[in-house]
Amino acid sequence: MPGIFNLSVDEAVTEARQTHALGVSAIILFGLPEKKDDVATGAWAEDGVVQQAARAIKREVRDLIVMGDVCLCEYMSHGHCGVVRATHPQSLGAAVAIPPAISPEYEIVNDATLELLARTSVSLARAGVDVIAPSDMMDGRVGAIRKALDQAGLINTPILSYAAKFASGFYGPFREAADSVPQFGDRRSYQMDGANLREAMREIELDIEEGADIIMVKPAMPYLDVIAAARERFDLPLAAYQVSGEYAMIEAAARNGWIDRDRVMMESLQSIRRAGAGIILTYYAMEAAKLLA
Ligand code: PBG
Ligand code: ZN
Repeated sequence: MPGIFNLSVDEAVTEARQTHALGVSAIILFGLPEKKDDVATGAWAEDGVVQQAARAIKREVRDLIVMGDVCLCEYMSHGHCGVVRATHPQSLGAAVAIPPAISPEYEIVNDATLELLARTSVSLARAGVDVIAPSDMMDGRVGAIRKALDQAGLINTPILSYAAKFASGFYGPFREAADSVPQFGDRRSYQMDGANLREAMREIELDIEEGADIIMVKPAMPYLDVIAAARERFDLPLAAYQVSGEYAMIEAAARNGWIDRDRVMMESLQSIRRAGAGIILTYYAMEAAKLLA
């Protein structure tokens, strides 16, 4: 991803300070662990890289809101967002992998995943993360995380749920940067089908029922109609994620001299705002803040 870098904890503190100085109100942290395994240890370990970064940033840049992305794919050796096991005999022989199957040989274990997501969330909140943002798309994760946070006494930690997250080709640059390309199968059994708007509304509704405080649609520009429909239908704060592929396309065209980068950047953000998102998660946050100052 041109212009986007993986940072050490020290560098993240410096970047957080600059971001805050530019008037950006919040950042979100993603982790890249030293080692990956099949229980995502790096996600929930007390000395995990995001836990370390959150502690350091909250110590140095107190007023900046620090959100924590909660998912297991960056920490799993197989690159999937949940716990994986050999396919249940029942689904064997199916011509097509039926969810929770992710390939003919493997399936996601939803409820075992919830436990790890809950553990990760509590660990992040204890490290100082202000907002927990689950992006895994397992069923029931908002409820499981809310319950775990409450039981840990973290009753005031809000949940920003990636409520409508579509299986998308636009995540390509991120997966390369986070080294989280699935080693087999794909994410279609847990991420959403872009053809189905009603299912997206249903997924958002479920997350709200389970206790989400902010809902998010992702990607943004190819799903502006979903943002608009969600704004119309739900009263919670609504966020949208302008993802790596959206950013990379603008950067590539600009670097080729084909478009005016700043103009297209602001126009893309404006379209997301106009569709109804009050919060925009974007790799352009610092650049846009400079132009808006
Ligand atoms: C992990 C996660 C992904 C992104 C954010 N969290 C990748 C994925 O689902 O494959 C994508 C972000 C981006 O493309 O900018 N669950
Ligand atoms: Zn994931």
